Amino acid sequence: MMTVNRSLKPFIIDDLKQQVITKYQESPKRLQHIYNVVDTAIKLANHYGIDSRRAEVCAWAHDLNRDDDPQLLAQQLDFKILKSYINVPFAYHGFVAANILKKDYHIDDLEILKAVAYHTFGKPQMSNLAKIILLADKTCADREYEGVETLRKLSFEDLDLALWQCIYSLIEYHEKNNHFIHEDLLNLYQDLKEKYYGKN
Ligand SMILES: [Fe+2]
Ligand SMILES: [Fe+2]
Repeated sequence: MMTVNRSLKPFIIDDLKQQVITKYQESPKRLQHIYNVVDTAIKLANHYGIDSRRAEVCAWAHDLNRDDDPQLLAQQLDFKILKSYINVPFAYHGFVAANILKKDYHIDDLEILKAVAYHTFGKPQMSNLAKIILLADKTCADREYEGVETLRKLSFEDLDLALWQCIYSLIEYHEKNNHFIHEDLLNLYQDLKEKYYGKN
C-alpha cells in the first residue's frame, strides 16, 4: 500500500502566508523581509535536497511574532525558555511562533519546530533545515551589512562554513555594540569551530 507523508497538510502554507500578510499589512518592511526569507529558504532547500515545503513553512512562520511585545510573548512561554532568554527577550518570538505551529497548525515535525524556535541565535547540533532557515534569515535580499554578499555565495557552497561565518559575524556585531551575547551563539560558534579545527 502506498504511504503518504501527511505531516504537512495541503493548505498549511497558504494559511500561514495569509496569516502573515494580514498581520503585517501595516508593516511592509517586515512583510518584505519574510517574503525574502521564504525565497532564500526555498532556494537553499532545493540546493541541499531538503523538502522545500518544510523550509517554506519555517520561513513564513519565523517572524510571525517579531513585532509583538516581548512581555506579552513571555506569558506564552515555559519558565525554562524565559530564564534562558531573559537577557535577549527579542528572541522570544521564535519560540512563540513554534508554539503556534504546534498548537494551531498541528505540526509535530520537531525539525520544523526547532528551526523556527532557534532561528535567532541557532544552537549546537542544528538540523540542515534549521541551518538553512537561520542563513536565509541573515542573508536574504533585504539584509545589508559588510560581507553579506560573500556569505550569500558561501551559503550555496558549504552550509556549515557559511553558518560558522554567519555566527562569527553576529558575535562580532554584538561585541562591537556592547550587546549581551547569548550562550547559544557562543556554543554554536565553538561547535562549528571544532568541526573545522578539532578540539583545541
Ligand atoms: Fe526573527
Ligand atoms: Fe527574520
